[in-house]
Amino acid sequence: MIYSEGKVTIEVPDSEKLLKKNEVFLNENKKLDRDLHVILINSLDWKAKSFLDLMAASGIRAIRLAKETKSFNRIVMNDIKKTAYDNMKLNAERNKIKAEFYNKSSQDLFCELRESFDNIDVDPFGSPVYFIRDAVQHVEKEGILSITSTDTGCLSGSFPTACARRYHSKSYLSEFYYESGLRILAKSAIEEASIYDTALVPIFSHAIGHYFRIYFKKIRGAKQTDNLLKNIQSISYCPYCLHREIGSAKICPNCKKNTTIIGPLFTGKIFDDKLLTNMISQNSEYTELLKRMQEENKIDIPWHYTTDRVSRVYKLTEPPITKLPYARTHINAKGFKTKDSIKEIVEKFKKLQ
Ligand SMILES: C[S@@+](CC[C@H](N)C(=O)[O-])C[C@H]1O[C@@H](n2cnc3c(N)ncnc32)[C@H](O)[C@@H]1O
Ligand SMILES: [Zn+2]
Repeated sequence: MIYSEGKVTIEVPDSEKLLKKNEVFLNENKKLDRDLHVILINSLDWKAKSFLDLMAASGIRAIRLAKETKSFNRIVMNDIKKTAYDNMKLNAERNKIKAEFYNKSSQDLFCELRESFDNIDVDPFGSPVYFIRDAVQHVEKEGILSITSTDTGCLSGSFPTACARRYHSKSYLSEFYYESGLRILAKSAIEEASIYDTALVPIFSHAIGHYFRIYFKKIRGAKQTDNLLKNIQSISYCPYCLHREIGSAKICPNCKKNTTIIGPLFTGKIFDDKLLTNMISQNSEYTELLKRMQEENKIDIPWHYTTDRVSRVYKLTEPPITKLPYARTHINAKGFKTKDSIKEIVEKFKKLQ
């Protein structure tokens, strides 16, 4: 199959002619993810010179970054699958990209490669947590670790037992389940890195579609790491009246019913505002999305409300979200962020009935 995206055209073997174990993975629905990666690299205040695509599959991400950004002078692609390795080489050649290629498990690659990279991308099937300890040690100081997780069901509350096992955190299907899932993933990566006195500071994230994506800036230092870890907390959430607060209160102070504890998770900012401003100034097709991210980033709370849940719980007619005086979130079209209490929110809804 021939496939074009951004400024590149690649060819991947037709999967029906191959056994599953030989298929080369290509997800056309992740164009948005790769587009945003290109925009992000072009928006940095510094030049990222080296990129390691740890699980490159067809190589599309690395090839796009090589072609569509000006900064990289060293691109390394790796995949454990031989068919992927053969395919990424062909695709790089086809797009006239100079790169180094490896056909190793990530673990073996990290044993072999002694140097560090300005950006390492970790994009496995499922959870990236298994790879973070190794990967973070090979990211340059102030460099970027970017991770993808398709483990959204586990992180967002559909499989809380698996989440507890894998991320040591309680996931829950609240109305902000995707945001709490993204933040549990961030917590897990931050904790993995903290054992090396390394702070992984989130600079850009998205939770759209079937995967989560987080870009972290790596900062070395015990003090910076301790400060970042202060943002790992739990949320006490009341499914009856929708009150929520940071902490582990077992009884809702609003309606006196039992709460649910969600987390621990990362409660700090998941975007760097300056980076968002730079990304917006690139005038891409994602300007509206990026502006919404900037809006949500101003309200420093680790959750959102949704118009449908508030209306259902309080038996009100659902107002159009555009009529509410609240910041919106990129995660849910009906989601809004505010520091107002649930009582104040309900008052605003009532005025719109
Ligand atoms: C989701 S795909 C990567 C997609 C690619 N990054 C893209 O943007 O199209 C995951 C890839 O990880 C590879 N993989 C899985 N485990 C690995 C490991 N331990 N080391 C290296 N590659 C691995 C798989 O062979 C597969 O090609
Ligand atoms: Zn309550």
